Amino acid sequence: PASRKARLKEVCARTAEFYHTQLMRGRGPEADAARSYLAGRGFGGDVPNTWNLGFAPGRGALVRHLSQLGFSTADMIDANVALAGRGGPVRDRFYNRVMFPIFDVSGDCIAFGGRVIGTGEPKYLNSQETPLFHKSQVLYGLDHAKAAMASSGVAIVVEGYTDVIALHEAGIKNVVATLGTALTLRHIRVLSRHASKRIVYLFDGDAAGQRAADRALAFIDKSMTPEAGRSQVDLVAVTLPDNLDPAEFVAARGADALRALVDDAKPLLEYGIERRLANHDLQAAEGRARALEDCLGVLAPIKESILAKDYAVRLAGRLRLRENDVLEALAAKEPPRF
Ligand code: CTP
Ligand code: MN
Ligand code: MN
Ligand code: MN
Ligand code: MN
Repeated sequence: PASRKARLKEVCARTAEFYHTQLMRGRGPEADAARSYLAGRGFGGDVPNTWNLGFAPGRGALVRHLSQLGFSTADMIDANVALAGRGGPVRDRFYNRVMFPIFDVSGDCIAFGGRVIGTGEPKYLNSQETPLFHKSQVLYGLDHAKAAMASSGVAIVVEGYTDVIALHEAGIKNVVATLGTALTLRHIRVLSRHASKRIVYLFDGDAAGQRAADRALAFIDKSMTPEAGRSQVDLVAVTLPDNLDPAEFVAARGADALRALVDDAKPLLEYGIERRLANHDLQAAEGRARALEDCLGVLAPIKESILAKDYAVRLAGRLRLRENDVLEALAAKEPPRF
C-alpha cells in the first residue's frame, strides 16, 4: 500500500539526513577521513550539500537514531538501511563508508550507494531491491539532470556516481548513471521521456566498461529500430580512451574535451560492429569470415528490420563479400547471448 511506501521513503529521507549530518559535523578520525577523502576527489566545497553526500559511521548509530524518531526495525530492514542480526539485534547496513543517496526523478531518496574510504572490498555497497528501489529503472542524478536533458535533448549515461557528480561540477549537467547494471530498455524508456534526441552511453575505457558495452548491445531490439516508430531517440555510444572513466577524463583533459568526445559518439549498432571489426585481421579471408560471424551476432536480434539489412549491406562492403551472401547469413543467424 501507498502508506508503506511513504513510510519507507521517510526512513530513507531521515537516513540521508543523518548520514549528511555525520559527514558535515561528525567527530572522530573516521568522519575526518571521510571528509578528506571526498575533498581529495574534488568533492569538497558545495558538493556534499548539492548531492546530499554523507558518512555512515555504523556501530548501530543509524538504528539508534531512527528508533528515537519512532521508526520500527521492520521499516528499517524493509528500506534496507538495517539488517536483521542473526538472533541478535538489528544492525546498520552501512559501516564506515561515504554515502551517495539515490534519489528518484522527483528528488525523493529511495536507496543508497556506499563507497569504501580509500581501498577495500567491496568498493561499493548498494541498497538491494526494495519496494521503493528497482535498479533496472533508476538512474542516479536524474532529478539534477532532467532540466538540462530537456533543454539539450541529449542524455549522457555513465557508469558511476562519481562520474555524474564530477561531470555536473564541470558544467556538463545532462548526465546520469546506471547503478552497477547495464542500461536496460526500461532505462531507455525513462530517458527518452526527458531527452528527445539522443542518449549517449559513455563507457569506461577498462575491461568492465567493454563488457558493459556488449551488454548494452543486447538491449537493441526491434522496438528500437526507426521503423518501429516508437522511439525517435538515437542511441549512441563512445568508449573513453586510455583506461579512463568520465571523472578521470574531465579532471585530466577538461570539459570541452569530454564534450568533443560525446559529439563524436557513434550509433550503438555501428559502435558494436566497429568494435568487432577491430578484433579481426581483415586482410585474411579467415579473419573476414570470423569478423562476419561476430558482427552478424550484433545484428541478429533485429535481423528482420530494414536497419539491420542496411548495416549488413555496409558490412559486405567492408568485408569485400557479396551483399546477398551477407543478407542470407544474417537471415540464418541466431542471436547470441551476451
Ligand atoms: N559498482 C558496484 N560495486 C562494485 C564496483 C562498482 O556497484 N564493487 C558500480 C557502482 O555503481 C560504480 C559503477 O559500478 O559507480 C562503476 O564502477 P567503477 O568504474 O569501478 O567505479 P567508479 O564509479 O569509477 O568508482 P570510483 O571512482 O569511486 O573508484
Ligand atoms: Mn547540508
Ligand atoms: Mn570502471
Ligand atoms: Mn572512477
Ligand atoms: Mn569508473
